[in-house]
Amino acid sequence: MQDNELVKQAIAAREQAYAPYSRFRVGAALLDDRNNLFTGCNIENSSYGATCCAERTAIFKAISEGAKQIKTLAVVCDSDDYCRPCGICRQVMSEFSAEDFRLLSARPDGEYEILTMEQLLPASFHLE
Ligand code: THU
Repeated sequence: MQDNELVKQAIAAREQAYAPYSRFRVGAALLDDRNNLFTGCNIENSSYGATCCAERTAIFKAISEGAKQIKTLAVVCDSDDYCRPCGICRQVMSEFSAEDFRLLSARPDGEYEILTMEQLLPASFHLE
C-alpha cells in the first residue's frame, strides 16, 4: 500500500472517533511487518484518564492480532497542521517499531511529513 493510501485510511478511521469531551478527533492507520492494515481512532471516557489515543488503539489492535512489528503508521488530527503523536504513544511506538519505521504525520488535506523513530523519541528508554 502506498503512503498516501495509508493516510487516506487514517482520515477515514478518524470518522469513528469517540471524542465528546475534547471534540478533537484523531485517526491512525498502520502497516505491520506482514503488510497487514490496522486502523484506530481516539476513544475518550468520562473518566478522562481512561482515554485511549488513536495511535495506541491501532497498535493494540495490531499486536493483539499477531503483528510483531510496525513498519509505517499514519496519523491525522482535527487540525489543519501536521498531526504529532503524544509522548505516551511515542513510547508505545518505540516498543513495536521496525528498524525502518516511518511515521506519516498527516494533515486533513492528505499532505504529510515523514518522521523516524529517532526523531520522535531520541535517547529512548529500554529495559535491560
Ligand atoms: N489524542 C490522540 O488520539 N493521539 C495523540 O497522539 C494525542 C491526543 C487524542 C486524545 C484525546 O481524545 C484528544 O486527542 C485530545 O487530547
